[in-house]
Amino acid sequence: MKQILFVCLGNICRSPLAEGIAKRIAQEKVLPLRVESAGTSSWHEGEPPCKNSIEIAAKKGVDISTQRSRPVSQHDKHTFDYIVAMDTQNKNDLESKGFQNVYLLGDFGGFEGSDVPDPYYFRGIEGFEKVYTMIETALYDLLEKVENDTI
Ligand code: 4NP
Repeated sequence: MKQILFVCLGNICRSPLAEGIAKRIAQEKVLPLRVESAGTSSWHEGEPPCKNSIEIAAKKGVDISTQRSRPVSQHDKHTFDYIVAMDTQNKNDLESKGFQNVYLLGDFGGFEGSDVPDPYYFRGIEGFEKVYTMIETALYDLLEKVENDTI
């Protein structure tokens, strides 16, 4: 079974969405995948995802409310086949912590390597809707490549 870890800064806004959406796609397509998420920081360790991420996911029928933030660990290096960063800063931070096989989510789904914007300081839910859609589009492409062993 392939294992994927999604990583952002706080593990409360973006990577929890990626985890929830990837699990939903895996379920839909009956893919044998193990999916988790983590943060490059431990600032929000133990906390649930941010309110807007929970809300936008719920609106799409994805329940992420039981997730809890955790920082990446050394153990993750040996566990996950794919480590997928939400933005370039996350990718650089992971690489400086010695992680290899780090991918950028924006390299999938036609986003030309764009960062998934950090919605932490967004005011309304609209920004989260855009982030949700970007993550979902990129994930369909990524998971298809994982399934077909083309990455
Ligand atoms: P995330 O968003 O990396 O998508 O979980 C953030 C969460 C918290 C902070 C920054 C980004 N923060 O500065 O506390």
